[in-house]
Amino acid sequence: MPCVRDQVRPSCVTEPYLMVVGGRQIDRRLVAYAGIRGVQRIRCMCACVVRFHFACLSNAHCKRHLSSTSISFIATGSRADPQRTAVLSHRYPCFNPSAGTAMDDRPGSNPSTARSIVLIAIVMIVAVAAFIYTSGWFSRARISPSQLVDSLAPPGGPALGFRRNHAKGICFTGTFQSNGNGAALSSAPMFAAGAYPVTGRFNLGTADAKAADGAVPVRGMGLRVVTPDGSEWRSAMIDAPFFAVATPEAFYALMQALANKSDPNAMKQFIAAHPEFPAFYSWLTTTPKTASYAQERFNSLNSFVFSNAAGQNSVVRWSFVPEATPQTLSADELKQRAPDFLDTDITQRVTNAPQRWTMIVTVANPGDPTADPSKAWPDDRRKVTAGTLVVSAIEPEADGPCRDLNFDPTVLPSGMHVSDDPFPAARSAAYSVSFNRRTAEDKFYPHTAARGSAQ
Ligand code: HEM
Repeated sequence: MPCVRDQVRPSCVTEPYLMVVGGRQIDRRLVAYAGIRGVQRIRCMCACVVRFHFACLSNAHCKRHLSSTSISFIATGSRADPQRTAVLSHRYPCFNPSAGTAMDDRPGSNPSTARSIVLIAIVMIVAVAAFIYTSGWFSRARISPSQLVDSLAPPGGPALGFRRNHAKGICFTGTFQSNGNGAALSSAPMFAAGAYPVTGRFNLGTADAKAADGAVPVRGMGLRVVTPDGSEWRSAMIDAPFFAVATPEAFYALMQALANKSDPNAMKQFIAAHPEFPAFYSWLTTTPKTASYAQERFNSLNSFVFSNAAGQNSVVRWSFVPEATPQTLSADELKQRAPDFLDTDITQRVTNAPQRWTMIVTVANPGDPTADPSKAWPDDRRKVTAGTLVVSAIEPEADGPCRDLNFDPTVLPSGMHVSDDPFPAARSAAYSVSFNRRTAEDKFYPHTAARGSAQ
């Protein structure tokens, strides 16, 4: 039988349900009958059949091939119901189910290939949906890291070149002397007994880089511990015993309420919606400040997961408790201190002798609020003393070793992980924005003369 071009409907390629196989038209009912699922396969079949028809129909070998191809296809489509194959064979005698499965070898027509394509498509759709979801496109309430950082800016705008929060600080170096006890909770290399170098920063919780030390009620410590294998643990802690709010969204709402000078009820409304805040406000306004960074206890507040060598997980928070006895200052005494008295004090103390803090890890009991740093855990929780932070040198921040560090709390070694606490991830994203902004504003930063002359 000659290969007659006009036996094939030219529309076949674009009209997948109408096909010519072996000189016979197969209509959409047949396609449905054969159990064909998915346009992709139908298109493939159509293209394949048309190609064979043009090229091979007059050739006996190809005719057999075409026949077996068609049979395989039908057989595949009707595998679940052999009776259908029989009916097809009957109605279309050239389709002999015993003739082979050549179609299975054809790319695009192979059922497993089609399945793979469908699978890939599903995976891609899920990945795109997950990306869109995590980007916050589905959620109008979601706040971007840039918005969070913008919300920290004082009315006059940010201090260019400085951290967008905790903008005033001073660098330190020293060691973390691990006693080995922390290894019971975490396989992090810095919990193996030994001494590991530390770079850190004492700081004030304000966006004002020129704030007077006595005027800022929150003090902080940035810490970075490294081990010889290159592992790093970074942390940024404050002296409050619990955080102001329960979620990053609430933190943003707090910043907005504080900045809202046009609405006298803004803070009232914020507090009504965030009942956790008054406890923090009370701590902020009634707890006397100490005379020195060396007398402050610094707390992680956020919870993390420690995993030990046996694979056991514990949800923990940690604190650095000062060896120096706290000497509290009255509000009047605080006001009378020089604007940089904390920097002067810590420089003097460390010049005289290294200053020490004990690291205490507190382990949550089941049911403790691990995702909410505004809720302290009860005092009776298990505590492990993991080692001692020894601060042995102080350097000004300008061109000091801490200036270009980002104390991102999600930079963790193996054996430490983030928990269900949403803050570390939000903080990490915000710190990154702040870091990028301040390093891009280098020309505004008051470099030291030494650095200036070296350039
Ligand atoms: C969503 C909540 C928070 C936001 C948006 C936020 C934002 C920031 C930003 C932008 C910086 C400057 C980062 C840099 O440029 O390197 C910073 C520094 C700091 N933050 Fe937060 N923070 C949040 C929560 C916390 C919490 C819960 C703590 C304490 C547990 C904390 C403690 C600190 C400390 C100590 C620093 C100074 C670290 C350093 O010396 O570089 N922050 N914060």
